[in-house]
Amino acid sequence: MTLTDLGLPMPVRPAPAGMPDTGPLLDTFGRAATDLRVSLTDRCNLRCTYCMPAEGLDWLPENQLLTAEELDRLLAIAVTRLGITSIRFTGGEPLVAQHLEQTIASASALHPRPEIAVTTNGLGLARRAARLKAAGLNRVNVSLDTVNAEHFAQITRRDRLADVLAGLAAAAAAGLGPIKVNAVLDPRTGLDDVVPLLRFCLDHGYQLRIIEQMPLDAGHEWSRDTTIEAETVLGTLRRYFDLQPDPSPRGSAPAQLWRVDGSQSTVGIIASVSESFCGACNRTRLTADGQIRSCLFSATETDLRALLRRGADDDALEAAWRTAMWAKPAGHGINDPSFVQPVRPMSAIGG
Ligand code: 5AD
Ligand code: SF4
Repeated sequence: MTLTDLGLPMPVRPAPAGMPDTGPLLDTFGRAATDLRVSLTDRCNLRCTYCMPAEGLDWLPENQLLTAEELDRLLAIAVTRLGITSIRFTGGEPLVAQHLEQTIASASALHPRPEIAVTTNGLGLARRAARLKAAGLNRVNVSLDTVNAEHFAQITRRDRLADVLAGLAAAAAAGLGPIKVNAVLDPRTGLDDVVPLLRFCLDHGYQLRIIEQMPLDAGHEWSRDTTIEAETVLGTLRRYFDLQPDPSPRGSAPAQLWRVDGSQSTVGIIASVSESFCGACNRTRLTADGQIRSCLFSATETDLRALLRRGADDDALEAAWRTAMWAKPAGHGINDPSFVQPVRPMSAIGG
């Protein structure tokens, strides 16, 4: 329930002391956000066990979602006023959002043109890859945890491995590379899955990145004990592959990259839990219902949708976005005893 839903006026808050009102989108720790993650919908056509219950979730009501026009306006503010240089559309499943191509086309018309990427589960990508490319999409990340059809069906609760593989092939054919494959390893089958998955990615020229499972499941059932940590994955891969640290600078990239078998091909490990990289974070997030989150794990959100619908001008929207980011916490604190899992699951925040 927002102030707008209650028919209440939005309070105008003074800008926090010391916060610049122009230039990069800064926080109090000196980090500048240049990468915007936009969740286009909280809906999804898979039901990954680490994300959603079998029956799905209570989806956001239609009237709370940003319209394509509202979103275009916020993206323009992000790029032209806040210094956002890359935009990644996520979900839920972003391909479920009908206006994805239109939104990409608007974003790619902005100056300076941002880099535009999508993180998708790959369902329906085979049909849309060429259109997405034509709209201005640069790259895709496809989520794929295993190439074993039985394990895929167990993890996602849908028998759709073939569709994901077809989506990957179509994305490569459409020139949406370099293509990254995101894998969250299942506690039961993950260590068996990871070796064939890496072989598959090497054979097809996709960059595999293995992500430690984070406490963002809707059921709040995450447990450190069952999470496969980066070190364990490396130990398993090293039995089959020679891995050497990639010499290129890491920057804000969450993945630690390893060169495989002396080639140029890499595998990335995203140790979000065991070795957090919050100090180099350059992200800001916009949810499908128009809330700014300074972090995946934020306890608070800033309601840009309410401001938009109350007729706020671009200056007011910019100031609200800056104020939200100024309050960005130092880190996610997953490893602190006082850690509290966010109320919203990953599908509603955007990965
Ligand atoms: N922990 C880590 N990654 C997750 N994803 C979804 N839920 C989690 C979680 N709890 C990943 C998906 C996808 C990306 C959007 O986020 O596998 O690659
Ligand atoms: Fe859908 Fe992604 Fe969640 Fe799987 S992890 S259910 S693909 S939103």
